Amino acid sequence: MKPIDDVRQISAITYGFLASKALFAALDLDIFTKIAGGAATLTALSEATGVAPNRLRTLLTTLKTVGLISEADGAFANAPATATYLVAGAPGDFRDYVRVVNGGFLYEGMRHVEKSLRGERVFPDKGFYEGIVYSEGGVGAEAFGAAQHKGSLGPARIFAKRVDLAGARRFLDVGGGSGAYAHAVLRRYPEMRATILDFPETLETARRYAAEAGLSGRIAHVGGNAITTAWPGGQDAVLMSYVWSAVGAADIPALARRAFDALNPGGSVLIHDFMVDDAHQGPDFAAWYLLAAILDNPGAECLTPGFVEGALGDAGFAVERTEPMLDGITSLTRARKP
Ligand SMILES: C[S@@+](CC[C@H](N)C(=O)[O-])C[C@H]1O[C@@H](n2cnc3c(N)ncnc32)[C@H](O)[C@@H]1O
Repeated sequence: MKPIDDVRQISAITYGFLASKALFAALDLDIFTKIAGGAATLTALSEATGVAPNRLRTLLTTLKTVGLISEADGAFANAPATATYLVAGAPGDFRDYVRVVNGGFLYEGMRHVEKSLRGERVFPDKGFYEGIVYSEGGVGAEAFGAAQHKGSLGPARIFAKRVDLAGARRFLDVGGGSGAYAHAVLRRYPEMRATILDFPETLETARRYAAEAGLSGRIAHVGGNAITTAWPGGQDAVLMSYVWSAVGAADIPALARRAFDALNPGGSVLIHDFMVDDAHQGPDFAAWYLLAAILDNPGAECLTPGFVEGALGDAGFAVERTEPMLDGITSLTRARKP
């Protein structure tokens, strides 16, 4: 990013969260779905949402300024990306992820980032996740799990398409959460069986999603902390997706060693996470997400390919490469056990 030289660029940064909040509010009212359904005028949208025209006009104006919608002759229309990703039933519909994870979890969490930067706990008596998700007025475990699952289904399909695991029989998804990645891999490789290791509370949801996907018979679940619980051995591939950014840097060598020990010779370890480049120049969204990761864990590392590859190399892996996964947001590092 070129260093800025105009005060309006500072305004764009300071006011930016207002535009984000306008999007979250629009999703709460499901405005884009209503526009797609034919409620195109201010009057029709006011009736469909129950929001008074004067207040709705202000929200719609904000949405126009950021290009989410347009207006011509008194009729509103969704922008092409809005129609593809923010409308019920659209091919890339990820409204719940944006509304619950970004608009609930991250937005609420970032109110505490100054505390986290000072190394203080966000909640004096509970963990960050517990405080934001489970507390009264929080996001709610059910809504969070469902939103995270929906948000991961698309990336998981990309992952399963891109990573060649032909010949592999056993896949271990450490911190596998709802199981979106395990499902995508099992669908592509009918001979494969998977194990998801995650905290017991998370596994309740993972079991339900596995049943709904008809994959219960091919997925085992191991409840516990990945740093202290024994991992099942004899694996052909181990994935950790968004786990290295969630734990402290001090725990990463142990996770790398555990992956090494769990794998058969020739097996692959795959690290998928937010990573900035080695010069710490960007990409922007990766850097922003990593800032949020310190809310969860003050010891979280500003991950780079060099750091990830170094940790895998130290554990004995032969590093293959790191490549972008979700463009401008996440990267995937692959390494093999010799
Ligand atoms: C952001 S979620 C990602 C879930 C999944 N890997 C995906 O990409 O969809 C991070 C997951 O890592 C799990 N996790 C974080 N630290 C862990 C630890 N020490 N032991 C086990 N699971 C952990 C969390 O419970 C959560 O399910």
